[in-house]
Order: sequence, then structure tokens, then C-alpha cells
Amino acid sequence: MHSRDEFPSELFLPFLSADSGPQYRALFRGFQQAILSGQLGPGSKLPASRPLGKNLGVSRNTVKAAYELLQAEGYIETRHGAGSFVSAAVPDQISKKGSDETLQDAAQPVLSQVSARISAAFAERPLLGNGLLLPATPCVKSFPWLKWQRHATAAGRKIKFEESVSRSGYIGLRRQIADYLNVVRGVKASAEQVQICSGSQQAIYLAALLLLDQGDDILVEEPGYYGVDGALAAVGANKVAVPADEEGFHLEAALQRSGNARLALLTPSRNYPMGYTLSLARRLALLNWAREQDAWIIEDDYDSEFRFDGPPLTSLQGLSGGERVIYMGTFSRILHPSIRLGYLVLPEVLTEPFSQVRAYVDGGLSSLPQIALADFMASGDFASHVRRMRKLYQQRRDILNTLAEQRFGDQLLRVESDGGMHSTFIFRDDLNISDRDLAAAAQARGLGIRALSDFYSSSEGPQGIVIGFAGYDEAQMHRGMDILEDVLHSAGA
Ligand SMILES: Cc1ncc(COP(=O)(O)O)c(C=O)c1O
Repeated sequence: MHSRDEFPSELFLPFLSADSGPQYRALFRGFQQAILSGQLGPGSKLPASRPLGKNLGVSRNTVKAAYELLQAEGYIETRHGAGSFVSAAVPDQISKKGSDETLQDAAQPVLSQVSARISAAFAERPLLGNGLLLPATPCVKSFPWLKWQRHATAAGRKIKFEESVSRSGYIGLRRQIADYLNVVRGVKASAEQVQICSGSQQAIYLAALLLLDQGDDILVEEPGYYGVDGALAAVGANKVAVPADEEGFHLEAALQRSGNARLALLTPSRNYPMGYTLSLARRLALLNWAREQDAWIIEDDYDSEFRFDGPPLTSLQGLSGGERVIYMGTFSRILHPSIRLGYLVLPEVLTEPFSQVRAYVDGGLSSLPQIALADFMASGDFASHVRRMRKLYQQRRDILNTLAEQRFGDQLLRVESDGGMHSTFIFRDDLNISDRDLAAAAQARGLGIRALSDFYSSSEGPQGIVIGFAGYDEAQMHRGMDILEDVLHSAGA
């Protein structure tokens, strides 16, 4: 606390020089901070406006305006004839805290248990990455920006007439998605069953919120996309890892681990990241289980647009007649990561309850990108972009696989896959290193490959790496392979 004679005017200079807004506001913030941190204690007398203004190089009116605001918000009191004083009403526990303590508190805020569970889910496996050959990265250079801009501009005009928008999404986009999925993926859906979300992440969270209670089991394939762990942690569900082998999700193993689960989450078309396809026998068994148990299946059809070897597979949703399956897809990998947008196709009985839950989560998404995307799809630009990317990614996959075979054939064994945006490799027996150490060393050199063990949460799984090819040209792949060679060499391999 400072006495009147040694009033610390210098405390306010940084605020005045750092703040680009009005000076009286900057001075107000300086006083506010000094009072809350205890540098100016309750009862401290403030200098008169004229000398303080002179000291700080601001006008007397600026100081007066700052004092008026401080008084209006209760930080200071003005006594007639005596001057202005820091208010006695500023609570002690706030004003006594030193600024260091305040800073420390800001660095370690007290958060909810849900937030702690979410951080714990990603503590060892960060969800986002960067660097060359990062999986799940599309070729952003090939995105048809000029066409997209035309649709976005048209959407800007159209939105004027969209006064009532459903929280399930823009109906024009929902219709386009239903038609597209029907033709391309054999999904049986009306536009009303399609719910637009910001991406698969949000879709999983909303579905979990709708269907799971705290402590409920959910069967999740392993290996699998661990981004779902955040959503499951948020609702407090219990993730039961289910092994996926060459025939995909192993229902019998699942039932040995949990007899009462009412939700299963898997990628039937192409397991992420191994590329396995769920066999017909297992599809039928899974649908049977769902019917008998009154359970639901979330079919994550992630990047199924990019099947290179053979025609598109029929969805599990189509096989089920749309009854017990929630179909999920995303545009963030087909279009552009910054456009995002994904969707769920819900069984009819779930559409109304889903919409009610959603009302309290986000109330729906902005229509503008949805209208633009609906036009993009209706014009045929979407289909032609997907076709071009399928061709490009197939070429890139072949280049990567050939390079990897030539350079690392003795160390890495490729897992066969019919498409996607990455290739997965398992370490051969004599490669005696940890995939997480290798991925961390690669990351430090700017290479975004992923450790295969990251996709396992309950068991060890094989050691290996996941290498993205979709977003990278041949020169970048060569550069990435050079780094990988160096990193393997340094690891003693
Ligand atoms: C299998 C799988 N599902 C879902 C997602 C998330 O998609 P979105 O970006 O739409 O949230 C990913 C992201 O990599 C994924 O790999």
C-alpha cells in the first residue's frame, strides 16, 4: 500500500502506452488492476486530477473521466472537499492478493471435473499435429476456391430470405446430403433425418449426450480414432475397447468385455487407421445384437469417399434399413479443414429428442456456409472435386507406398488398405525401437507421422507408424522420407 506522498503514478504508464483505446479507459484499467492486486489498498487517497494528469502526460479531463468510471463501478468513493479514496467495499480477499499470486491463479485456474477428464484423455496423445506427411490432411491446394467463392457469394445473397432456420441445419443442405448418401453409400434417409454438425467431433458428442448416462459402457473399436475419447470423457461414459482384426469389429470379444452396452462406435468401411473392412457376417451379427439389445450403432464413415480399389461399399446403415444405425460423415477432409461441417443421419425416432438436446448445446449452426455447401453440391462442383481428389490421392498413395517399400522395405511392413488418406506400417521384428519415441523424434524434425500405438488405449497393439499422403506432393514425400531415414538411423535402426 502506498501513502499519499509516494503515489505510484508510474504504475499507470504501461497501461497508457499499451492500450490503443481511449486513454481514460486505459487509466481506468490501470487503477482497477492496482486496486484488485492490493497495490492500492482500501482507503488509499487518490491524487487530484490535475497533478496526476501532469505526471502522466494526459489531460485533467482524462483523469476525471477515469475517476468517474471507477466511482461508477464502486472501486473508489469521492468525499466532498476531501478527494477520492479507494473504496472500503473492495473485498479483502481480492485486494490482499499480491499480483504474483493473481498471475499464478490465472495459470492454474480451478476447473470442472469434466474438463480434467478431457485433458487426461489427451495427456499423452495430442489430438492435433503438424508437419510433413501428417495423416488426415487433405490437399488444400487443389480445393476449387474460385468455384467455392461463387457459391459463398450467392449464399450471402440467399441468406437474406432464410428467416427461420432449423437447428438441425439448413434444409437445402440436408436434402443434398440425403440424396448424395442415398446414391453413393446406399444410406436410407430423408432430409429430416440429416442433422448438420460442425464436424464428426461435435456429432459424436451430441450423440453421446443423447444416448449415454454417466458410467454407461460404450463399445469402441481398437485401434480407432482416439478423438472420441474427449466426447466420452465429457459425458462420463465408460469406453470399452473392442479389438478390430482383418474382419473388423470383433463383436464376440466385445460381449465378453461388456454385457450391457447400448452403444457401439466403429468405422465399418475402413477401420481407422488399419484399413480393415467389417465382413458381411460380422455386419449382420452386429445389427442383430443392436436389435436384440435395443442398442445403437454409430457408423463413422470417415474418408470413405476415397476408396481406390473397387466401387464404394454399401453402408451398414443401408443394410440395417436405417433402424438402429446412426450414420456419421464429415466434410472437413473432403473439402477443406477450415470449412469443416459434418453430419449425422439419425433413425427417425431419434430426430426429435436429438433436436431438443441440441437446443441447449449450440442451437444450430450458422446458415451461410451451409447454404454455400448446398449450392456447391447441387451444381455438381462437389462431386467433381471428390472425383479429382480420389484420383490424386490414389496416385499419391502409390507414390508413397513405392517410396516406402524402396527405402524401408526391410524395416516397415505395410498394412494393405483399399483407400483413405494415409498408409499404415508395422515395424518388422528386428526394428527394436518404440514407435512413440520415433514419432516424437520425427515431430522434432518437422515430420508429422503418428505412432500406431496412439490408436490403442487398452492394449499394447503392434508398433508402427501412420503416414499421411493425401496433402503432399512427390517432392514433399521425398523430403519426408529423408527425414524418416535420418530419424530411424539416429534411433539405431
Ligand atoms: C475416424 C475419424 N473420425 C472422425 C474424425 C474427426 O472428424 P472431424 O474433423 O469432422 O471432427 C477423424 C479425424 O481425423 C477420424 O480420423
